[in-house]
Amino acid sequence: MRNWLPFIFLLASCSKPVSENCAGSGLYTKASFPIGTAFNLSDAAEHPLLTQKFSTHFNAFTPENALKFSTISPWPGVYDFSEGDSLVALWQDRARIHGHTLIWHQQLPSWFAQYKGDYKELLQAHVRTVIRHYARNIRSWDVVNEALTEQGELRASPWLEQVGEDYIYLAFKAAQEADAKATLFYNEYNLALNPRKLDAALRLCENLRSRGIRLSGIGMQMHIGVSYPSREEIAFAVEKIWRAGFTVHFSELDISLNPLGNKKNFSEADFQAQAAKYREVVEVYQQIPRDHQFGITLWGIGDADSWIPNYFNRVDAPLLFDAHYNPKPAFCAFQNALK
Ligand code: G3I
Repeated sequence: MRNWLPFIFLLASCSKPVSENCAGSGLYTKASFPIGTAFNLSDAAEHPLLTQKFSTHFNAFTPENALKFSTISPWPGVYDFSEGDSLVALWQDRARIHGHTLIWHQQLPSWFAQYKGDYKELLQAHVRTVIRHYARNIRSWDVVNEALTEQGELRASPWLEQVGEDYIYLAFKAAQEADAKATLFYNEYNLALNPRKLDAALRLCENLRSRGIRLSGIGMQMHIGVSYPSREEIAFAVEKIWRAGFTVHFSELDISLNPLGNKKNFSEADFQAQAAKYREVVEVYQQIPRDHQFGITLWGIGDADSWIPNYFNRVDAPLLFDAHYNPKPAFCAFQNALK
């Protein structure tokens, strides 16, 4: 559901649509790896331009919320796959669909805290049921999302509290038992910005592998800003991950223009700086060996679809297209950086 208030200020500062020649051909047609995005079924239903831009520019898709615990399991033991099924039916023929996310401390259903059953069995049943339901259409999953603190410890989580430290191992074990061919990811934010968290994520994933878990890759969410993390920090983190033998997915890329929330609108210089950062991100990603690239997924298409303004209650314009789905300088920079 969109909160238009943050956009009342922003509309006046929408970047001038860039020349159409840059936006002519699809982004993904120029990339050596999948170019994805994320949105909800309601977004697609409300905005024909969104689905038009998706069809033209993207060949990968992550349901933004449809596959999360609270959406899929409204009651204990009850599964509602309707939104996920609709999105799979819409896009399965033209996009790689990535499953997000099975076990996370957020977006748990309201009944979760009062559940009287065995939480370990609940975790295992949820992972198995969801993966098996989508086994023919979704071949990759964020099995566990954001399990670590900025200090590299296991974050407080209802799963940690109810199942214990092994909840992560149990989630991945259930996942690989449910679909032996699925590509399994651990998904996390701030891995380029926080070397301690990066090392903790690598230790976590390497430990899972040492216990027989077929963990293929690490999702670096990449919710970043125009001025952070630096190119060098991103490149350092990316290289450390692929050299450790993990596939790298830039899984939720957006580049905030207003991380401190102190801006009401944006200048052309702001949009150009954002464009330069998107170019940097693509250039760093393309330095990864092809066999360790999973793709780049933008966390939304147009600025009005972004989670950021609602979540942080601030004006922002973090994506490649503006609130009217016109390509921004960021789009051209992203496209021109692809090779
Ligand atoms: O579906 C209900 C709707 O029925 C209700 O009327 C409305 C009232 O506000 O809420 C709707 O649910 C919202 C849901 O998105 C679906 O739109 C939730 O309130 C809202 O909190 C939820 O936000 C999502 C957020 O995760 C939750 O933490 C964002 O869309 C989504 O982009 C964001 O994505 C996460 C990734 O999954 C993990 N990485 C971080 C990223 C940003 O938080």
